[in-house]
This record gives sequence, structure tokens and C-alpha cells, in this order.
Amino acid sequence: MASVEIINLRKSYGNVLALSDIEIEIGTGSFYTLLGPSGCGKTTLLRTIAGFHFQDAGRILVDGVEIQNKPAHKRDVGMVFQDYAVFPHLSVEANVAFGLKQRKVPAAEMSRRVAEALRIVQLDPFAQRMPHELSGGQQQRVGLARAMVINPTVLLMDEPLSNLDAKLRVDLRAELRQIQRDLGMTTVYVTHDQEEALAMSDIVCVMYNGIIQQAASPFDIYRLPTNRFVANFVGGNNFLSATHEGGRALLKSSGSVVADVAGPAGQAIVASVRPEAVRVSPGANIKDHEVSIPVRIAGISFIGREAGVHGVTEAGENLSATVRPSAEILALAKGAEATFGFQRADMLVFEDHDTGRRL
Ligand SMILES: Nc1ncnc2c1ncn2[C@@H]1O[C@H](COP(=O)(O)OP(=O)(O)OP(=O)(O)O)[C@@H](O)[C@H]1O
Ligand SMILES: [Mg+2]
Repeated sequence: MASVEIINLRKSYGNVLALSDIEIEIGTGSFYTLLGPSGCGKTTLLRTIAGFHFQDAGRILVDGVEIQNKPAHKRDVGMVFQDYAVFPHLSVEANVAFGLKQRKVPAAEMSRRVAEALRIVQLDPFAQRMPHELSGGQQQRVGLARAMVINPTVLLMDEPLSNLDAKLRVDLRAELRQIQRDLGMTTVYVTHDQEEALAMSDIVCVMYNGIIQQAASPFDIYRLPTNRFVANFVGGNNFLSATHEGGRALLKSSGSVVADVAGPAGQAIVASVRPEAVRVSPGANIKDHEVSIPVRIAGISFIGREAGVHGVTEAGENLSATVRPSAEILALAKGAEATFGFQRADMLVFEDHDTGRRL
């Protein structure tokens, strides 16, 4: 088991700068997730750690030892790939044995380790099957067993659950996390699914445009996003334009003060509030909350245990609330007047641009 440290890593493909100034520290045995939209550099970073790509600059250390110039097969890193899980022409057992064969592990030890890996991922009854005789989730587990069986010091997984249906994803992510905990494997996991990242990780590292935006515990990423991008990408969020006057942020739509902010007055700022912090009152001009905003209902989305109530402010801004469904809420008609209210403590203020800092 190992700690991983990445220092000032940069990687480009021709003129495309895929990673810049990457600085990461991963504690021994922890589950570290790279989260970000398509094209942000997640796979590039994982493949650079594995040694399938070489960096333009920077260093990668495992347990304090530099590995960035070693070829992939000397790095002692296991990888589960994004685009395919298994070799289709090999049985389950032969798939899992693949890396051990390459490393010329003696036959007796090989079959012992393969059996052990198959037991861990609960595929021992399927050892002789071919991949096409397995379900998607079982195939994903073959990929996992194949990466684990070489006892890597670091396990890298690139969207290993991406091809599965929603229910299986949720089951398998718990299973995967349990296996990782039991074996204490230092793991770098890639996903673009923010819920998966929050549910599984010790640390979530949010990337955008090849740059790390924030690395923190799931709770802190959600509660205290460092910039507007993170606030928007992780969990739903509402953004309302605001103005900065006399050290305070005022909402344009209601004139209410939402927070004290430092920095230069007059700068363009925006305030955020999570949908679950927004209360909905049918009717106009209800002043039950620290901040109350009149809206017209644009639509209701009922998904069972909760309902999304979507409103438009007088200034034409969208504002959504997530509430427990009630007959009164579900009866709100499109175009009806309502008031959305929330507490100031539930609001954050950001510079008003794509990756604007939290103020
Ligand atoms: N072989 C390549 N040649 C040129 N550009 C590449 C190559 N591989 C990736 N890129 C570019 O580098 C950037 C990062 O790609 P990468 O595959 O790391 O993204 P990703 O975060 O894994 O995205 P996804 O969620 O879609 O898998 C993208 O702009 C991509 O187009
Ligand atoms: Mg990718």
C-alpha cells in the first residue's frame, strides 16, 4: 500500500493542454476520486499515473519514490479501463490470470491468486465462463479482479461503472468500496457522476479544463465549494445575480441583503442557494423568510420522495426548490404566483464568472 504525490504535473497533446499545474496528495489506503465533465483531463491524469502517457513536466511519487520516468510495466499500478472491461476471447479465469502470466508468476501461485481474486469479487462460480456469458456488472467485476490480482500498490479505476444501469451502479459502488476498504488499497477513481463521487470517496478532486478546482472531503465540496464551477457541478444549485455595495451583497431580484462580502465594491457577483434550502409558499408577497422572492411557477417535477418546483423571478431568473411533495405543492399550476424563501446562512457569494472564487 502506498501514498501518492503528484507535483506540478503538465501534459499536452500537440497544442491541446490537457493537464496543467496538477498538485495532488493521496494518503495511504484512501479512496481518491477525480470528478469533472467530459474532456476535463481525468483519463489523461490516470493514464499518466499508470505510465501509458508521459508528462511534459512534473513528478509523480509513490511512497516518496519518483516513478514518472518508469515504463508502465515497472510501476506496480493496476488499472481498470474506461472503454473496455475484459478480453472477450479469454475465459473469466484467463482474464484474471493475464497480468500474472505477463509477470511470469509460477503456475501454483497464479491459480491460488486468481481463485482468491475471483472469490473477493464473488465470481468464483463463473471462472470457466466466457465474458459474453456474463452480465455487465459481472464483466465489470472481472475487470476489477484482473487489476487487483497483481497486488498493485496503487489501483486506478476509470469510470468502471459507466456501462451499467442505475440500480446495478449503486449496488456495485458499495461493493467496490467495501473491497477497497478490506484490502486497504490506495485508489484513484474517475467518474463524471457527482453523486457516485460523493457517495464513495474519502476525497473528491473536482477538475475542469485540465485544472484542479478543489480537492476536499465530500461534505466540504458540497458545503463550501471554492468557486462557482464546483458549486454548479456538484449538486444542484441556483444562481441569482447580485450587486456588491458597501461590503454587502444585495440580490438584484429582491434588493435583500444576502451576505457580507469583502473585496472591491462594484465587482460582478452572484449568489447561490441549494434547491433543498428553498421553501415554497403558494401565493405572492409572503415574507416568512430572511430572503423572500416572488416567482411565477414554470413547472413541477415529481420524482417520488421529492418534488422539484421551478420558478421564474420577476427579473427572469430561474430558481428551483426541492421539497417534500404535498397535494398543495403538486397542485401549483404553471404561471401561478408563489414565493420562494430561504435563510441567508444558506447562501454563498461568488465572483460572477465561470470559475469565479467564493467571496
Ligand atoms: N490522444 C489524444 N490526442 C489529442 N487530444 C487528446 C487525446 N486524448 C485526449 N485528448 C484531449 O485531452 C482532453 C482531456 O481528455 P481526457 O480523455 O483526459 O478527458 P476525460 O476527463 O477523461 O473525459 P471523459 O469524461 O469524456 O472520459 C480533451 O480535450 C481531449 O479531447
Ligand atoms: Mg475519460
